[in-house]
Amino acid sequence: MTVIGIASVKGAPGVTAFALALASTWPGNVVLAELDASGGDLAGHRGLQPDPGIASLATEIRRERDVEVLTRHAQMLPSGLKVIPAPSRPAQAHAAISALAGVLPEVFPKLLRETTLIADLGRLTGASVELAGSMDRLLVLTRPKLTDLAHLDGLPPNAELVLVGRGPYPPKEVTDALDLKIRVHLRHDPAAQAFLEGRRRRTRLVRAARQLAATLAVSAQLEPVP
Ligand SMILES: Nc1ncnc2c1ncn2[C@@H]1O[C@H](COP(=O)(O)OP(=O)(O)OP(=O)(O)O)[C@@H](O)[C@H]1O
Ligand SMILES: [Mg+2]
Repeated sequence: MTVIGIASVKGAPGVTAFALALASTWPGNVVLAELDASGGDLAGHRGLQPDPGIASLATEIRRERDVEVLTRHAQMLPSGLKVIPAPSRPAQAHAAISALAGVLPEVFPKLLRETTLIADLGRLTGASVELAGSMDRLLVLTRPKLTDLAHLDGLPPNAELVLVGRGPYPPKEVTDALDLKIRVHLRHDPAAQAFLEGRRRRTRLVRAARQLAATLAVSAQLEPVP
């Protein structure tokens, strides 16, 4: 299984919208998991039940780790995308994700090889930093503003940046100053909220995500199988 984490370090730069857009446009088998310890938003945006989801997964994974364990806890959106929603309550989400963080890095290599997991990690803190570091890719969203960029210290070595919207710093200045690769620069998308809520399917964000998904999917296939 290829695992791609999407995260932020500050503010709400659009992690959930981007993770959903990337998963919705992924060219192959994909599952979107909400591993946001501050509480999930997908169930609220899309009118999903809290279960099955991250909490039921955290309970089962202690005793059962077969190749289908993740997909058993997924729900399907009308588009056909499989999502594992996090509880919206922070205390419940935090408990489930703390339990999963210790187990998932060991479980990922045993899961279906032809499936990609896209994980909405929310804002990286505590246990989620280590979990993020165990993923094949880690895309960290940030606005190119000094106040946001100042929080990018101490990211795991697999981190790459996704810049969102405009700021005073052009991408080259950001990379030079931070020594982090910029994977993509997303423009402001006024239809992001409508996309999150399932009212729009084709938006600027979705187009950008589709391009990136195609590139990442090819490089994932080229990686040697261990
Ligand atoms: N590319 C974008 N351009 C403009 N607005 C965006 C973009 N992506 C998301 N938004 C808007 O920003 C707000 C936050 O988006 P989202 O929930 O995806 O952020 P987040 O980083 O997951 O936040 P949180 O940390 O609270 O989970 C929403 O109102 C959303 O519609
Ligand atoms: Mg979010």
